[in-house]
Amino acid sequence: MLQSFFVLPGQYEDLARDEVISISKSYDPKTKSSSESRLVILESKVSWKKIASRATFVRNSGNIVDTFDDISKIDPPIPKPLSFVCRTINLSSRKISTSLEKQVGGVLSRRWGSKVSLSNPHLTVYLIITDSEQYLGCADTKIEPKLPIKVIKHPHELDLKLSRCIVNLSQLKEGKTICDPFCGTGTILLQAESMEIKSIGIDFDPLMCSITRKNLAANQFKSKVINSSYNEIRNIKGTIDAIVTDLPYGIASRSSVSPKKLVKDFVSIIPKRKKLVIVYKKGLDVEEMSKAKKYEIYRHKSLTRVIAVR
Ligand SMILES: C[S@@+](CC[C@H](N)C(=O)[O-])C[C@H]1O[C@@H](n2cnc3c(N)ncnc32)[C@H](O)[C@@H]1O
Repeated sequence: MLQSFFVLPGQYEDLARDEVISISKSYDPKTKSSSESRLVILESKVSWKKIASRATFVRNSGNIVDTFDDISKIDPPIPKPLSFVCRTINLSSRKISTSLEKQVGGVLSRRWGSKVSLSNPHLTVYLIITDSEQYLGCADTKIEPKLPIKVIKHPHELDLKLSRCIVNLSQLKEGKTICDPFCGTGTILLQAESMEIKSIGIDFDPLMCSITRKNLAANQFKSKVINSSYNEIRNIKGTIDAIVTDLPYGIASRSSVSPKKLVKDFVSIIPKRKKLVIVYKKGLDVEEMSKAKKYEIYRHKSLTRVIAVR
């Protein structure tokens, strides 16, 4: 099976790695993965382009076509491109010669008889160096996710990128349905629908519901928005595949119960079989989520967010 690679940024490494693996598992539950430093390698039926079009944090991606040691013997098992460029991605702890790209470019251009094009190549050959291996990766294009627009913002909104990442952690593919029972301005719904995942938003504040509807309409999206308390989940649980939400805290909670009690009550009504991805303020952890996989996102000295996946 083809291997694909994903180079991640230095920030949020665990989260970025698990996002890529989760996207692949939404389509191919038998996905195998390995990672080293900021490199994730997947063995999966899903194309790297599909994963890169959804992933939030990927810097570079493509197929792994070979490994290399002796530069003069490099001969990747792929059709020769009309033109190409070599790019080094050094993820190792050692210094790599600045002439590596030129040397490999020379070998490949003699082997293939293809031109090197720095500005508009038909193929980019990545020389990915880690402490344990040197990979040759290839990509015929660079894929960037197409993000939805947001016309109305609000101070307590979750940022667009983190919202996309948590939708991806729910491991759903197109046509499945998520519910965000504290939808606020609808950021999570926007990201879900931009990936053709259906979504239902709930918020007890009519103003928030109207903001969400406007944000959805600006993208011609059709997610349903219900003006109600999160308890509405009990009535729609049969129609949803996962719950992805950013729990209220501080002024966003505007509720008579304490933030911790709200988290506890909320988690207790979610059926155990449903995938649950929640974001909450560090310190509001509840026992029901003790076995969940957790990631911490530091924002400022009084706000560290926890993303928990159960
Ligand atoms: C942290 S904000 C969500 C922000 C949202 N992710 C966004 O990007 O705009 C929490 C939202 O939960 C809503 N909320 C608070 N308590 C609620 C409850 N008991 N039932 C439903 N919604 C509630 C608030 O009105 C607020 O819009």
